[in-house]
Amino acid sequence: MWRPVFLILAVATAHASIQPSELMSNELKLDKYYTYAEMESYLRNLSNAFRDKITLEELAKTDVDHLSVYKVKVSNNQIDGPKKAILLDAAIHGNEWITTTVALKAIYELVTGKNNFLEKSDWYILPMVNPDGYEYTLPKKNDKWMKNRKPNEGGEIGVNLNRNFDFNWDKTKDRSNMSWSENYRGSKPLSEPESLALANLMKELTKSNKEVIYISLHTEHQSSIFYPSVFEGKPTKNNASLAWLAQYASEKIFNETRSKYTHGVPVTYKGTGGTSLDYAYDLGISMAFDLEFGQEKSDDQSLDSFISNRANEGWSGVYHLAEGAFLKIKNGIIEHDCDCNEDEDDAYIAPPGSNSPTDDSDDDNDDCSCKPDKKKASSAGENVPFIGIFSTLLLYVSYTILN
Ligand SMILES: *[C@@H]1O[C@H](CO)[C@@H](O)[C@H](O)[C@H]1NC(C)=O
Ligand SMILES: *[C@@H]1O[C@H](CO)[C@@H](O)[C@H](O)[C@H]1NC(C)=O
Ligand SMILES: *[C@@H]1O[C@H](CO)[C@@H](O)[C@H](O)[C@H]1NC(C)=O
Ligand SMILES: *[C@@H]1O[C@H](CO)[C@@H](O)[C@H](O)[C@H]1NC(C)=O
Ligand SMILES: [Zn+2]
Repeated sequence: MWRPVFLILAVATAHASIQPSELMSNELKLDKYYTYAEMESYLRNLSNAFRDKITLEELAKTDVDHLSVYKVKVSNNQIDGPKKAILLDAAIHGNEWITTTVALKAIYELVTGKNNFLEKSDWYILPMVNPDGYEYTLPKKNDKWMKNRKPNEGGEIGVNLNRNFDFNWDKTKDRSNMSWSENYRGSKPLSEPESLALANLMKELTKSNKEVIYISLHTEHQSSIFYPSVFEGKPTKNNASLAWLAQYASEKIFNETRSKYTHGVPVTYKGTGGTSLDYAYDLGISMAFDLEFGQEKSDDQSLDSFISNRANEGWSGVYHLAEGAFLKIKNGIIEHDCDCNEDEDDAYIAPPGSNSPTDDSDDDNDDCSCKPDKKKASSAGENVPFIGIFSTLLLYVSYTILN
């Protein structure tokens, strides 16, 4: 007589616990760009709703407007084991607003989406490195301002934070030694609180002996994925892996969104010193990328479709750069390590440069003895907590009744 009542209660409780109303109010808004204040409010809301996974920290305050440079750590402390660190930053350049949206989307997807990154990696996300420049340009629509708002000696305003890093800082060909220039590198390396905060975080992560993957978000005239070495134009030691991964991610973005991303070492930036990308590489972060989103929207495109398309491309790029860094590659082919946690469609990819059509369907794990059930369960994403809670309750109820 009691049993059905208990069971219904158990089901109702399990349901309530996986659909908190906060989740609904924490949907990402893609119809316009986030202002600094909205971003801050969104980060607070998310970190309240996902206390166990999100830690919000102020890394620095800007000199002029006293805004916070936030670091959002997304991790799952319930799972131990060595984890990689994925460092993602956005809006180092003030007028590159879409990058902040992409960073927020990454945070949102990591805590609500269908992926298992947090089992193997901790994420460190800086959704707005240059809030002063961002807030200065956002109301002006098509503004070219990239710098922060620091007054320089001589009265010119602003330092380009992506010329302020301590690598090839003084060797420069793009007028970054002129304080009026949009590329002004600052009075000395890491003179700015924003760039110093990011550099210190990179150092902290590399010292922690974690393997670090760095992805810096920008906008450019063309959608692309860049990797070091920007300054020298010479291939890095691991150029082949970087090139492979950039090509892999750009193919994935294309397959998922039909948007084309070029990849390579940007010749246009030869002679550009002080970038965060080269600095990261020099510190020992050998997996380092700039993910660049192309042209701002055309006149015939609505802002909300532009933002949501870019957000999808951006997450696709970040996702696959990060995911690719976990894959074992041999002769251009992904080897399975039988941990059964990879995406279904990652079974095989064509070697870079190969045009041969490959089967991208579900017949993966040929060389791997993963149990299909386990794989299904782990890719079932949102059902997992439900099944978990449900079976725990069921066990508890049966135990109570039987005793
Ligand atoms: C944060 O949550 C509050 C209360 O639910 C809501 O009014 C506000 O719009 C949320 N902020 C953002 C940016 O979503
Ligand atoms: C800036 O660098 C150029 C060479 O790239 C040099 O000719 C010029 O004198 C430098 N200007 C300053 C202010 O240091
Ligand atoms: C890096 O490797 C890619 C792929 O093999 C190649 O196309 C590219 O030219 C290399 N980069 C440099 C700077 O040599
Ligand atoms: C992209 O799709 C094509 C065609 O289906 C496929 O051959 C290729 O392997 C896919 N690329 C990746 C990286 O998954
Ligand atoms: Zn930029």
